[in-house]
Amino acid sequence: MSEGITIALSKGKLLSPTLLLFRQAGYSGYYVQEDDRRLILEYPEHGHRVLIVRPSDVPVYVEYGAADLGVVGKDVLLEQSPDVYEPVDLGLGVCKLVVAKPNGQTPIQRLSSKLRIATKYPNITERYFNQQGLPVELIKLYGSIELAPLVGLADRIVDLVETGKTLKANNLVEEEIIAWSSARLIVNRASLKMKHATMTEVLTRIKKQVMTNQSPKGTGKGVRR
Ligand code: PRP
Repeated sequence: MSEGITIALSKGKLLSPTLLLFRQAGYSGYYVQEDDRRLILEYPEHGHRVLIVRPSDVPVYVEYGAADLGVVGKDVLLEQSPDVYEPVDLGLGVCKLVVAKPNGQTPIQRLSSKLRIATKYPNITERYFNQQGLPVELIKLYGSIELAPLVGLADRIVDLVETGKTLKANNLVEEEIIAWSSARLIVNRASLKMKHATMTEVLTRIKKQVMTNQSPKGTGKGVRR
């Protein structure tokens, strides 16, 4: 019998498509009810233990080996730069990380004063504006970032845009794209060596399913985005 593995999944928007992907890949039973408050789900038939974790904590569980595998957005990986393998782009939760401003406001290049930027992503934001040689003051927030420029807390925001509805509803417009993001499978470096057979099986099955899902005719010859 193969060795058991622990998988940290991001709760929130990514959870439901991730569970579906695992089911499609042959791991039956990967379901969670919306009101389920359990943090650990056991799938002994597959030798899996699943941890339901806040997205920004997934890399921590995987890097420290509390989980062998994890699923998390590229945005979180760019922000945290954890020491993990990142072997598969799952193609789920595709969105972009942008600089946004109140509609009608002066473009960045024409501003002479230091910009105040509200974001959940201070590291990415600092790197981005440093590369452009623009001085910025960062204001770290934990949610509802779009509110900051509406009440004078910040001149700009750096945040994720998926449908664009939140920006539009708050009279904000996209100014620059910093990066694209999608969900990634991440792997603890030691686990890949110590539990090689089991880890390889999961990685192979998931990769194959991602290819199938991305293939226009379900031929399995998927095109990477
Ligand atoms: C995310 C993101 C934006 C919004 C973008 O927030 O931070 O606010 O979704 O989605 P849209 O382009 O489809 O409107 P989330 O819903 O995770 O909540 P938060 O503001 O509390 O972080």
